[in-house]
Amino acid sequence: MVRVHLRNITLDNFHECISLEVDKSQQKFVASNVQSLAEAKVNPDLFPLAIYDAAVAGYEKPQLPMVGFTMYEITAGVGFIMRLMIAHQYQQQGYGRATMFEVIRRLKLYPEVELIATSHRRGNEVASKLYRSLGFVDWASAWAQEQETEIFLKLDS
Ligand SMILES: CC(C)(COP(=O)(O)OP(=O)(O)OC[C@H]1O[C@@H](n2cnc3c(N)ncnc32)[C@H](O)[C@@H]1OP(=O)(O)O)[C@@H](O)C(=O)NCCC(=O)NCCS
Repeated sequence: MVRVHLRNITLDNFHECISLEVDKSQQKFVASNVQSLAEAKVNPDLFPLAIYDAAVAGYEKPQLPMVGFTMYEITAGVGFIMRLMIAHQYQQQGYGRATMFEVIRRLKLYPEVELIATSHRRGNEVASKLYRSLGFVDWASAWAQEQETEIFLKLDS
């Protein structure tokens, strides 16, 4: 099974992170990594992380390229997985699913996280299928249901 290693974005891997791209047809589904990092700079509740293959764990300097980017938010008792992107050349190799497993594992370590949730754009069938296969179900809060472009999901655990 594919596993991932998550690492902070620093001066050493910042340029690699902002150069990662999804397929043109997927750009409407996720903010650019530059935007996500800018949001994280001004919001201390956001945790941006670089995604590497698990083979990189233990190496001070990654010997393999970064494959993607993820960011979660911890606020009001919710661990919210805000961003997930795997660069187009590394997609469909299991990294997206492995990252979700790893982020969920991390979120479960925070005592203040009572609910794990995520969202995706309406029409993003790949993300929808992936999240639902991991146990996410519709988040039936009133405000979530009012969103027109975004589907909100929570982990049913
Ligand atoms: C969604 C995304 C992160 C999935 O990453 P990934 O590394 O390709 O996912 P995996 O290889 O772990 O595959 C997960 C499942 O999705 C399926 N899948 C992935 N890409 C697919 C594609 N283009 N078409 C159809 N199915 C696809 C895989 O077959 C797999 O299904 P299975 O577990 O039933 O076999 C990636 O497509 C992406 O970065 N998309 C653009 C950004 C985006 O939409 N992010 C989500 C925002 S909410």
